Amino acid sequence: MSVQEYLEKHLLSRKIEEAVNAAVRAKAPDPVLFISTHMRRAAPAVITSVRARQILDSRGEPAVEVALHTNKAVHRASAAAADAPEGTAADATRDAEKRKLLARAVADAVQVINDKVSEALVGMDPQQQAQIDQAIMDLDKAHHKDGIGMNAMLAVSIAACKAGSAEKEVPLYKHIADLVGKSATTLPVPAITVINGGTHAGNRLPIQEIMILPVGAKNFEEAMQMGSETYHHLKDIISEKYGPDSYNIGEDGGFAPNISSISEGLDLVIVAIDRAGYNGRIKLAIDVAATDFCIGKKYDLEFKFAEKSGQGFKTADDMIEIYSQLCSEYPLVSIEQPFDKDDWEHSKKFTTLELCQVVGDDLLMSDPERIKRAVIEYTCNALVLKANQVGTVMEALEVVKQAKDAHWGVMVSHRSGDTDDSFIADLAVGAAAGQIKAGAPCRGECLTKYNQLLRIEEELGSDGVYAGENWRTAASTS
Ligand code: PGA
Repeated sequence: MSVQEYLEKHLLSRKIEEAVNAAVRAKAPDPVLFISTHMRRAAPAVITSVRARQILDSRGEPAVEVALHTNKAVHRASAAAADAPEGTAADATRDAEKRKLLARAVADAVQVINDKVSEALVGMDPQQQAQIDQAIMDLDKAHHKDGIGMNAMLAVSIAACKAGSAEKEVPLYKHIADLVGKSATTLPVPAITVINGGTHAGNRLPIQEIMILPVGAKNFEEAMQMGSETYHHLKDIISEKYGPDSYNIGEDGGFAPNISSISEGLDLVIVAIDRAGYNGRIKLAIDVAATDFCIGKKYDLEFKFAEKSGQGFKTADDMIEIYSQLCSEYPLVSIEQPFDKDDWEHSKKFTTLELCQVVGDDLLMSDPERIKRAVIEYTCNALVLKANQVGTVMEALEVVKQAKDAHWGVMVSHRSGDTDDSFIADLAVGAAAGQIKAGAPCRGECLTKYNQLLRIEEELGSDGVYAGENWRTAASTS
């Protein structure tokens, strides 16, 4: 092809002339930069390939990272391959080589992405999130999505979402909000983990997490400040009471002193809040993760005790009494997964007491069908959204909508084995969730989410609204 033919084929003279004219009209101070940006915008982004690799998550276990290439840039995303209750839709893709790397090698998922998924997405416009997610789902007709795996699907979907926001030249949270036709101005209240127990720590505390909610902060920045100060006071208090070898941390970054009861943990946190000077401005939340210690129909509060007293076995009704007591004695405003994942009856019984926010985790598994049932039966009144239990960004947004329509609270959540991807921070703002749970104010994989929210708040400036005291209703009203 001659030079002339090449110029004509690509309409280059006309395009360059248009760019130059635009620069002149705009009186661009740096015309070369202006023209190059103008020309770049004139070439629409298309996906050219999707490459995946295995990385390690915060537990040192394999996770999927995706690099989605367009003709303009590379966009990376990773998704946690955390544990899920057995036999559920949430099982992450596992390799055949179960013995390798704690049975969590994700080599199969990597291969599927590099082959099938990449082929299906090449040529697509990254701004078309719904079409991209549909293409990913179409590849995985297998029951429970275990053909590709939720984590793999999500990593691709998030990478596409990032590419879409880049092409639109809008922040990720704004792009996400556009996908649901909303504005993105609500900063969530962080549910900050300060004490770990359950299966997330080696102590005797049966419940998985004690969290603090700085609902009385004036903005997200102050909320994190309050959270971090309280966290550090708690460290001192634990050290004073149990010795300096007691403030090791658990999987979400919360301290893991060898306490054995919920009230012992809550008492420590109350003292820390008091010392930090935030009485009344910080509320408490717990994640019981009761499925982990439900044996038959009973709950073994001593499931991590080497020697059991025999007093630890509680019926579901005993547990209701325990929770009711805690709600009356402490500023406890949210209880996650208070019963076994299949104990719909007692979850409903407790929720209808209206003592606090009752968050469905294993009960819902972020699964639309289970959420539908829980809404009808009023089995809980809030959703914890774990995007890697859903599969794609659009499906996650759909699940949030379900919860919002039911006037539930919405808590966007990380996983206990997580990566340094901060996507859920943008998701929490874009979906106006009102609450986010990303672990302690410590550990990189937790802070990457909270720090991204600090950036978002700064960027939103006076448009940003911290959910604060409206943490429970922010989701359904925005
Ligand atoms: P998981 O816990 O990722 O181990 O399920 C996270 C949570 O419920 O906070």
